[in-house]
Amino acid sequence: MTMMKKLHMSAAILALSTTAVAAQEVEVLHWWTSGGEAAAVGTLRDTLAAGGIGWQDMPVAGGGGSDAMTVLRARVTAGDAPTAVQMLGFSIQDWAAEGALANLDALAAEQGWNDVVPAALQAFSTYDGHWVAAPVNVHSTNWVWANSALMAELGIEQPTSWEEFVAAMEAAEAAGHVALAHGGQAWQDATIFNSMVMGVGGPDFYQAAMVDLDPAALGSDTMVEAFQRMETLRGFVDDNFSGRDWNLATAMVINGEALFQIMGDWAKGEFVNAGLTAGNEFQCFRVPGTEGTVTFNSDQFAMFNVSDPAAQEAQLAMASAVLSPEFQVAFNLVKGSVPARTDIPSDQFDACGQMGMAQLAEAAANGGLFGSMAHGHANPPAVQNAMYDVITAHFNGEYDAATAAAELVTAVEIAQ
Ligand code: BGC
Repeated sequence: MTMMKKLHMSAAILALSTTAVAAQEVEVLHWWTSGGEAAAVGTLRDTLAAGGIGWQDMPVAGGGGSDAMTVLRARVTAGDAPTAVQMLGFSIQDWAAEGALANLDALAAEQGWNDVVPAALQAFSTYDGHWVAAPVNVHSTNWVWANSALMAELGIEQPTSWEEFVAAMEAAEAAGHVALAHGGQAWQDATIFNSMVMGVGGPDFYQAAMVDLDPAALGSDTMVEAFQRMETLRGFVDDNFSGRDWNLATAMVINGEALFQIMGDWAKGEFVNAGLTAGNEFQCFRVPGTEGTVTFNSDQFAMFNVSDPAAQEAQLAMASAVLSPEFQVAFNLVKGSVPARTDIPSDQFDACGQMGMAQLAEAAANGGLFGSMAHGHANPPAVQNAMYDVITAHFNGEYDAATAAAELVTAVEIAQ
């Protein structure tokens, strides 16, 4: 065969195989709509495209995913489930209990997921012993993001206690800056509340109140103090906070308008997307009082039952790509999270990523690792939403701290 003929043949084979696989497509419902998040979605879309899998985008904005979950429910009710859905913790379990999710056991066994995905994540990726979701990452929510130049200008070191944290914010405010960048949306209020509960009460209290839903803990003086700290934080937030998206709050820290933001490490995705480097222009440290603990959430792709064999193949190809070590590095560098596998070296990650990976492992070994209430990993969606309502009503001045704690007890009781 001449060289020319060979070339023609391989071109024909290539054309054939591309047509065959181009029919494979995933429709992905997710809430990754900020700049950093969109960049992270891009790495997933490109990885799938390289494997011949098409991408139909179904974005629904709103951190914590409440709005995305409402859209999902409507789609499923209409008999039109997307093939893959970004999902958090207890929601995965709820959908699996309804029998709506596909079984990924064969792929998981072939690729040894049991050995590399940490137990804390498997608790949510599996239902009744079967794999139903592919974890993309581990986020952690008890972080403070800080503008380094502003810290230097104000002569502030990283605070190591609640009192130092408050003093730093007072200094920022006195100098005419916004001390705490925050967006008044229920899930953001809940995200900072999560850290106040851990910071005031410590791990055992967090477990009792947020996970075990013990009414004595929910209505305790410790909980009242957590709400009081929310009032202190409220005092450091600017007047325009209501309804502000989280990434716009991050932008305030990025551009030096604000000193701190308390947010999950998806905020790092925004700094990175703006071309900034951890340890240089910005810093990360644990919310003072929560050191030694990690409150986590893991984005996972739940695969919905579909009957079309091409769609099923595309789902498996996507799940396989998501769990591959190369993708876990590429995606998480951009997303701000850390890998969902325990066998990935940390040396390619920045200072915050390396700290995050080390602290995650340490917390898992020392009983300091807890699911984030605000992000669906401490209790079921019904309870989480009931908590959101009380936390937000209090943050907006509807209740004082003692009333809020009492309301929390009632709301959680009704939601169960
Ligand atoms: C998700 C993150 C996302 C954040 C803000 C969290 O619930 O786990 O992946 O970046 O919400 O949208």
